[in-house]
Amino acid sequence: MMQRSSHVACPFVTGTRRLDEPYPGREALRAAGPVAIVEAPAGGPVAVVTTAALARAVLTDPRISKDTALAPAHWDAQGAGLEPTAAQALSLTTAEGELHAALRRAHAPMLAPRRMRALEGSMRETARAMLRDAGPGPVDLVAEFTTRYPLTVVGDLLGVPRSMLDEAVDACRRMWDDPGAAMAGFARLGAAAMAHDGLARELRGRLPASVTDEQVHYLLFALIFAGQLTTDAALGFLLARVLTSTPPDDTAALVDDVLRRDPPAPFTLWRFTAEEVELAGVVLPPGTPVVVDVAGVAGDPGASLAFGAGPHVCAGAHLARAELAAVVDVLVTDFPGARLAVPAAELRRVDPGTLAGSRLATLPVEGLRPRE
Ligand code: HEM
Repeated sequence: MMQRSSHVACPFVTGTRRLDEPYPGREALRAAGPVAIVEAPAGGPVAVVTTAALARAVLTDPRISKDTALAPAHWDAQGAGLEPTAAQALSLTTAEGELHAALRRAHAPMLAPRRMRALEGSMRETARAMLRDAGPGPVDLVAEFTTRYPLTVVGDLLGVPRSMLDEAVDACRRMWDDPGAAMAGFARLGAAAMAHDGLARELRGRLPASVTDEQVHYLLFALIFAGQLTTDAALGFLLARVLTSTPPDDTAALVDDVLRRDPPAPFTLWRFTAEEVELAGVVLPPGTPVVVDVAGVAGDPGASLAFGAGPHVCAGAHLARAELAAVVDVLVTDFPGARLAVPAAELRRVDPGTLAGSRLATLPVEGLRPRE
């Protein structure tokens, strides 16, 4: 039977903590076994998978679906951070099976590693110009850079005009308090991207003609928002690390290490059992919410699941890694005087109390002057 794990505090808590303080509740969660049953933020039980081996099995198990049509009926969709069901909106994140595979095939060429490598120079150029314009400081890079830079990069890629950057920032920030207004903003960004040359049009061309423009706008929203939310948070931790340590020998390894220690998605998105499923001896009835404790399994050797695994593994992982590496290289090479404007011990991270990850509250930096 599915019973609440005793002595396990809810891991979905809001709060502020130091950078080196562990994720709240994670130790007890892992101590509860490979599957811990805790209270979901929207109410009722949720099964949290706490080992890397079981996580990989769950993330490839066709009986455990991302379609939000299977979510508990009493959940408030907005409060639970649920996307529309697969029938309501065509989306990589909720489609399953052959439809999902076809959508992935349509997206794959635009986010392929070779294409991302070809864009590294322009990403560095973008980072250099944005940091120069933000400097010399003191400036809070969380307010002025970590949201704007990933939105600029993905916007350039898709064909969103740069003049719409403020609108993109606004749409992302309003997603939590006014999702209706945010989605209207994203639809305008999608329409603008499709009117320009860029990968949005290329994606459109690879989808069947029966897919409507409105549906393409939703696919573009997913790319913009999924990329911003995560890369934004990662940038804060990455920049803080670069500003408080010796310059890295291996930028790619540094990026991966930061993503492992401070995963921007510390839990996967919601999944739901489509039928009765037994996981490590725990029987989950149909419709049970399941998430993987990505932050917790990072302690297992060689087990980073920062980008997920299985059919829904992050579609933008190569883009994200290239974007993050470009910023590190630019900061180290072109801004040798950049330093924290406060003692590192004063930096704080904020946990949102949902599945989403923590992000730095502020990152005050000074000496941000380009090398002559
Ligand atoms: C450091 C940055 C990033 C991290 C840590 C990250 C993490 C993840 C994770 C863990 C998943 C899987 C969620 C699950 O299975 O429940 C995912 C999926 C996804 N990510 Fe990312 N992501 C990042 C950046 C990006 C970027 C830049 C883009 C867009 C261009 C993007 C687009 C997506 C999409 C579309 C999916 C859904 C894929 C599917 O369901 O088939 N991500 N991401």
